[in-house]
Amino acid sequence: MAIIVSASLLSADTLKIGSELERIKAAGCGHVHFDVMDGVFVNNISFGIPVLKGVRKGTELPVDAHLMITRPGDYIDVFADAGADMISFHLEADCDPAAVLERIHERGKKAGIAIKPGTPAEEVFPYLHKADYVLEMTVEPGFGGQGFMTETLDKIKKIHEYITEKGLDTKIQVDGGINGETAALAAGAGAEILVAGSYLFRGDMSEAAAVLMNCLKH
Ligand code: DX5
Ligand code: ZN
Repeated sequence: MAIIVSASLLSADTLKIGSELERIKAAGCGHVHFDVMDGVFVNNISFGIPVLKGVRKGTELPVDAHLMITRPGDYIDVFADAGADMISFHLEADCDPAAVLERIHERGKKAGIAIKPGTPAEEVFPYLHKADYVLEMTVEPGFGGQGFMTETLDKIKKIHEYITEKGLDTKIQVDGGINGETAALAAGAGAEILVAGSYLFRGDMSEAAAVLMNCLKH
């Protein structure tokens, strides 16, 4: 299983977003993670469409928009137009998840469905065959720099078992509190795409990304 590291721009220096994107590429990260918050679905507001357009121009890596917004169905086209290659939205949002996944695919993008730590794994099962990836939040969405919630590991295992049993291609992505230790736990439970913000940006990013990419080898 090849681990993909996805760098969350929430922890980047937004004054230097261009050079941060170069740093992400040079460190060997596979995706750029772009958190969108509307101040309603979560108690925080991050960045939106104009910033995404700039990010799109600044990198060739796939850009993954993680929509923490109330009505994701109304915004798939704008995020697709702004240059996202992958779009995830929350099962808990106000939407018809199957229709939103379909719209993302109609726009030729990879589709992800996200769940919060408190949402039972079983609730996402009916949508897994329609999704390219499932995002298990390993912290409450809204802020970077929080501690990994170990109680999410059982959910990752359950989702992984279901995907294996049904022979699906759906990848498991985790987001929140990922560092060298928690990456090994999440990947050991079945996660393949590791989103990290503070752990990657606070020091030598190449070193940190290498730890995450090799977290199953120690
Ligand atoms: C939180 C965001 C995350 C955040 C992760 O709601 O979805 O992508 O940037 O940050 P760390 O890795 O610092 O927990
Ligand atoms: Zn995120």
